Amino acid sequence: MWAKHAQGTVIRQAQGAWPQGTYEEHHARDGFAGDCSQLYRAHPTTEWTRVEGPIRPRGILTDDLPAEDDADERAQPTTLLECADMRLSISRRRRPAPYLFRNADGDTVILVQRGSGLLVCDYGTLEYGPLEYLVIPKGTNYRLIPHTTDNLSYVVETTAAVGVPDRGLLGHFLPFDIGVLDVPRLDALRAHGSGLDGPEWEIVVKRGERLSSIFHPFDPLDVEGWQGSVTPYRLRLRDIRPVTSERMDVPPITHATFAAEGVWFCTMAPRIWQNDPEAAHVQPYHRNVDYDEIIINLGSPEGDGVPGRPIGLMTVTPGGMNHGPGAAMLRHPMERMPFYLLNIDTRQALRPTSAFEQAEIPDFYERQRFSGPGR
Ligand SMILES: [Fe+2]
Repeated sequence: MWAKHAQGTVIRQAQGAWPQGTYEEHHARDGFAGDCSQLYRAHPTTEWTRVEGPIRPRGILTDDLPAEDDADERAQPTTLLECADMRLSISRRRRPAPYLFRNADGDTVILVQRGSGLLVCDYGTLEYGPLEYLVIPKGTNYRLIPHTTDNLSYVVETTAAVGVPDRGLLGHFLPFDIGVLDVPRLDALRAHGSGLDGPEWEIVVKRGERLSSIFHPFDPLDVEGWQGSVTPYRLRLRDIRPVTSERMDVPPITHATFAAEGVWFCTMAPRIWQNDPEAAHVQPYHRNVDYDEIIINLGSPEGDGVPGRPIGLMTVTPGGMNHGPGAAMLRHPMERMPFYLLNIDTRQALRPTSAFEQAEIPDFYERQRFSGPGR
């Protein structure tokens, strides 16, 4: 049975007003959904003199980061981070690939930052645009046909199947009604097909991270009808209704949009910030010891950057690395969160690729260091 112990200077409930002169730190298991202790410390845990080794937080700006599929229409997205459960890549595809693609290694979650286009697949056609998710099940034959030339998408391939996580006591309508998930329409596909010309049609299949090609003497998007529960779908971020509390910073996992084994996709959407006088007005310092944290700034609902949070700033904080609010945030907490963040948590330790390391912001972890007057 879970037992709560308490010693020394504490408060009655976590994330209330911190005791004078202290900084609350959460030592948390299972991504803040499991056991947790709060430590009330005399110093911010981010007030380090230096950090050595791969535990340091890292950062990269993806907004104008080159991607191989920008110029090469046959290329795959450019991978930045990977582990056994997932890989995260960026795509800047401006011309459709001259083939259909089938990922037989896992599911694919695409979050469109900029640009719009049409998904054509076995199940029909589906328009996509900025700040929208596409979830494409393993084994689907598909093709993305961009309508725009300035495009940026985050592409996450998971080893296990992606689904909507259990909402528990929240019920069916938070953080979004399942009914807003749009699926492709077959009627348009019958007129459009894959958009490729014969006499031979190619399907590129990825299995074991190796590519093969299957060729047909007909357009493989020849489906006359379909039924079942395996299909791509789209979620618009504007349909997310974030769970909020005026009295507490709700745990990140409350914002879970999708999940696969070992991977959480949490979408932090614009919302009120905790404003009760008795509440802590910042996120507590924390060690999320079971997960690596990726945070990507997606900008405002209008697609604009936010001061100090440029669109495409991606940060990676390894599990167990202490982090938390800076001195400026402590002095001037937000009244409202005005932007979107994509937070991907991975149970396995992430490995940055050479594409990441070549472009990463030098000494980014220094930005995470607490400097300035304390409490
Ligand atoms: Fe965190």
